[in-house]
This record gives sequence, structure tokens and C-alpha cells, in this order.
Amino acid sequence: MKILLLIGLYAITLSNMGTNAQTNSPKKGILLITFGTSYPNARKAFDNIEEQVRSYWPDIDIYWAYTSGFIRKKLDKQGIQIDSPSGALAKMGEAGYTHIAAQSLHIIPGSEFHDVVRTVKGFTQVQKGLEKTTMGRPLVSKHEDLERVARFFTEQFPIATNDEAVVLMGHGTHHDANVYYPGFQYYLNDLSDRHYVATVEGYPTLERVIRQLKKQQVKKVTLTPFMSVAGDHAQNDMAGQEKDSWKSQLEAEGFEVDVVMKGLAEYDEVVKIWLDHLKEALDGL
Ligand code: CO
Repeated sequence: MKILLLIGLYAITLSNMGTNAQTNSPKKGILLITFGTSYPNARKAFDNIEEQVRSYWPDIDIYWAYTSGFIRKKLDKQGIQIDSPSGALAKMGEAGYTHIAAQSLHIIPGSEFHDVVRTVKGFTQVQKGLEKTTMGRPLVSKHEDLERVARFFTEQFPIATNDEAVVLMGHGTHHDANVYYPGFQYYLNDLSDRHYVATVEGYPTLERVIRQLKKQQVKKVTLTPFMSVAGDHAQNDMAGQEKDSWKSQLEAEGFEVDVVMKGLAEYDEVVKIWLDHLKEALDGL
């Protein structure tokens, strides 16, 4: 009898200890989610983000996920393993993380961002031990973000004379959120009439911007990506040697073209905006 009672007490204490341990010591993790890139040079931009995240939150582990299956497969062949968002979440769940702040390193809240939101939400419901997840907003989604990014570009690429202009290459999308690109142009216009954004797959088009440049009698154009990294689109669609690259099209129209091959994640001022969004996500845990 006595022994059974003792065993019973021991069991209660253990299970209490178990629950206390769980509620008293949450294990927080950060998950950084990007489309991804297969360009080693472009990946340096992601290293820059990771370094900065680590310096702000040295005690929280950082995980990465690429949304692009194509890029993950390509890297896998080179011996570089990178998880999908659900793969990374499963790993983190297995490793006992109770609270995860996921940060989108996308530019606008388009279809990839919304896919990631759905994945994170779905995982939170099924992953055992995972108590809470929050999602950090992409680079531009609120008024302040658009103001900050517009200010950054006009200061980083100042216009010296009236025959100069800066053209940013955005991705563009069929998603409703494409409206962020012409929206962003409005913010640029508040600060400059020589800074433009055009998109590869949406609106505004480069054609439209070229018409504007001609009206303004611009002679010299600086081209640079409005994407997290200077990856495939920047190397080929923007600055490639082919006739249909933006550089070639602009040159064919008589403009002198300068290319700045640097992704947004390489600028600390821009990374700071993502970090502020990640801070919101961490505060929400
Ligand atoms: Co693309």
C-alpha cells in the first residue's frame, strides 16, 4: 500500500514538473522565408540578413526556408540542402520549438506571401508542442514601409542632373497585390520625378517608363533591382546581353545605361525594415 502511494505521488510530481517545464520555458525560434536564389553571390545578401538578425536576437535560433521548389532542387544537386517552409517548420517542431516567428523576406504581400501564411497557420494547428506562431510582414505592406523604401532609393541613388533617371526592376505579379508597384511609384513621386519602378511580370511595364523618360528628355539611366537579391532576373532580364534585356532595350532606345547589381537585402537600411517587421512578429509571440 505504502509503496503504491509513493509511486502515485512521484507520478503526480513528475507530470506537474512536465507541465511547468513546458509553460515556463517556451523555446522561441525564428524562421526566415524567401523565394530563394541559386546564385552564390546573391546568397551573400541572405547571409547579411542572417548576421543582422543574429546581432539583434543573439539568443534565438535562426532557420531558413525557400519557397521555390525549383531552386531547392537545383541547390540540392550542388549538395546544398535548404528546406521548404513546411519542411523547416516540421524540423523546428521536432526540435521542440514552442513559439516561432516566421519572417517573410518577400517584397510585397503577393501570392507567395499568402501561401506561406497558410502553411504556417496550418502547421500551427497540427504540430504537437507548437503553441504559437506569428508572421512578419514583407518589405512593403504599410504606408510607413513604402515611405521608408522610397526615401531609401532617392537617397541611395541621388539624381545629379535633369538628364538622369533611376529605374528599379520589380518582379510584378498576377496577384491583386501587384498594385503595390504603381502604389510605390506614387511614393517615389513625392520625393523625385526621376525615380521609376517597372516590373518584369506586371504593371508598370518598362515600355511605359521609357515613354516617360523620353518625355523628360532623360539621357542616362541607372538600372537596379527592386528584389531581395540580384539573382536570375537581375542578371538576365535586367542586365543580360540578350536583345530583350532591360539594359539592351534602353540602349536600343538611345539611353546610356548604368547597372547597379545589388539586391535589397544587401542594404542595411532596407534589412532594418524587415527586422522591424520581425520584431513585431517576435513581440506577438
Ligand atoms: Co520570377
